Amino acid sequence: MFQPDLLKGKRILITGGGSGLGKSMGRRFVELGAELLICGRRQEVLAETAAELKIGNRAVGTHSIDIRDAEAVEKMMDWAFADGPIDVLVNNAAGNFIAKTETLSHRAVDSVLNIVLHGTTYVTLAAGRRWIASGHKGTVLSILATYAWTGSPYVVPSAMAKAGVLALMQSLAVEWGGKGIRTVSIAPGPFPTKGAWDRLVPPSMVDAWEKAGPMKRVGEHIELANLASYLVSDMAAYINGDCITIDGGRWLQGASMFHHLSQLSEEQWAAMRPKKA
Ligand code: HXC
Repeated sequence: MFQPDLLKGKRILITGGGSGLGKSMGRRFVELGAELLICGRRQEVLAETAAELKIGNRAVGTHSIDIRDAEAVEKMMDWAFADGPIDVLVNNAAGNFIAKTETLSHRAVDSVLNIVLHGTTYVTLAAGRRWIASGHKGTVLSILATYAWTGSPYVVPSAMAKAGVLALMQSLAVEWGGKGIRTVSIAPGPFPTKGAWDRLVPPSMVDAWEKAGPMKRVGEHIELANLASYLVSDMAAYINGDCITIDGGRWLQGASMFHHLSQLSEEQWAAMRPKKA
């Protein structure tokens, strides 16, 4: 459904773009004509991904960074804007692990909050300041999780941080919308990545967890990448501040009072019908 040049002329920076969902979005952006920049902590991973995603003479730029370091973020943004302004920032870098919340050390809490909440904020402000100073239009897309609004046990710092990033995106939509800057979010359900599955899904629970939603499957990366492509494209120019969920209805199932009735058989339903006199 996409024009092959949907993102032509757009310079897109993805944090955490060397692997996982960031890499899948980057691949799709390049296919649709974008000029891609990726950053992350491991230069060797970035270099491998850049070589893999390159199409023709469109090289993929790489920059190693830990977004928890605000000064390093400023330097990275100088690099990203050096050959002209970026048009799109994708806040994809994250950190997360499952733990009983009462066992978390303050360093454990900080490690997640510093990446997801503080790091995302540093990167967003660094891009926004440059766009505002030059009058350039821009789009920020943040990758959240549906527990940004439901909260979730066992990933509490991540839930707090994602909620904060949602508030950041909603706030800036209003504050920066008049300057031509859109801020949008995606809340994905389960889309398998090594980083997330290693840290979040106990091996004995993988199958049940993956089939837990109403569609009984996980998301395919291309489904997320296509949604991201639309949201950062000019086709979505009037979408600002919203968060689009892509989870097959999974969080609504968790929230709905009677979803367990899906387990009833036809015979059980028939037996419960009132008998005609
Ligand atoms: C308890 C833990 C822990 C665990 C780390 N810590 N892992 N505590 N249980 N499983 C504690 C450490 O003991 C330490 O505290 C503190 O956290 C910092 O740990 P480090 O390993 O030194 O931190 P660092 O190297 O900076 O790594 C950050 C990280 C790590 C967040 C802990 O997991 C990481 O780098 N993650 C990046 C990739 C990632 O998480 N991807 C998944 C994102 S999925 P002490 O007190 O001992 O010093 C996602 C959305 C999921 O975000 C949505 C699903 C639907």
